[in-house]
Amino acid sequence: MANELGNRSFAGKVALVTGAASGIGRAVAERLAQAGAKVALADMDEPKVTRVVESIRSVGGDAIALRLDVTSEADWTAGMDRLVREWGRLDISVNSAGIAFASPIPETSLADWKRVLPTNLDGVFLGTRHAMTAMKNAGGGWGHGRSPRCSRVLIRRRSRRLHRWRSIPLRTWGKPGTR
Ligand SMILES: NC(=O)c1ccc[n+]([C@@H]2O[C@H](COP(=O)([O-])OP(=O)(O)OC[C@H]3O[C@@H](n4cnc5c(N)ncnc54)[C@H](O)[C@@H]3O)[C@@H](O)[C@H]2O)c1
Repeated sequence: MANELGNRSFAGKVALVTGAASGIGRAVAERLAQAGAKVALADMDEPKVTRVVESIRSVGGDAIALRLDVTSEADWTAGMDRLVREWGRLDISVNSAGIAFASPIPETSLADWKRVLPTNLDGVFLGTRHAMTAMKNAGGGWGHGRSPRCSRVLIRRRSRRLHRWRSIPLRTWGKPGTR
C-alpha cells in the first residue's frame, strides 16, 4: 500500500473500507487516513472497528465507524446513506472484508461453504454496487484501481467508465468463483 500511495495526498477524498477492524482492511484504512482521506471504516465487529477509528482520530485523522455486515443489503443501504449524509460523496471503495478458509473438500461441510461464499462473493458484489450508485449519485463516474482482484477496489474517476462497468459483474465475477 505504501508503494501504491507513495507520497500522494488524498486530502478531500472520501473512502469506504470494509473489513477495517483488522488485517488488510485496517492497514488500508489507516494509510488512506494518513494520506488525508476521510475514511468510513466498516466491519461487523463494531467494538473493534470503533477502536480503530478512535486510534485514527487520536493522530488527527478523519474517520467514522460503520457497523456493517457486507452480506446484508439493509446494512449497505444504511451505511452508505450515513456516509453520504456525513461527507456528501464517495471517491474510493475497498472491499476487504472476507473470510480466509481452507480445508480439503471432503472435510468441508455445506455450512462452511455457505458461510464463506456470501461474505467473499455477495459482499464484494453488494459493496461494489452500492459504491457505484453512491459515486454516480454524487455526480461522478468511476474506474477500477490497480488491484490483484480489481472488483475489490473502486476509485471514482471518469464518467465514461460507467457504461463499461455496468454489465461486467455477473459475467466476470461469477465464473472465477468455480474455476
Ligand atoms: N492476509 C493475506 O495475506 C491475504 C492474502 C490474500 C487474500 N486475503 C483475503 O483478504 C480478505 C481479508 O484478509 P485479512 O487478512 O485482512 O483478514 P482479517 O481476518 O484480518 O480481517 C477480515 C475482517 O473482515 C471482517 N468481516 C468478516 N466477515 C464480515 C462481514 N460479513 N461483514 C463485515 N465484515 C466482515 C472481520 O470482522 C475482520 O475484521 C480475506 O478474504 C482473505 O482471505 C488475505
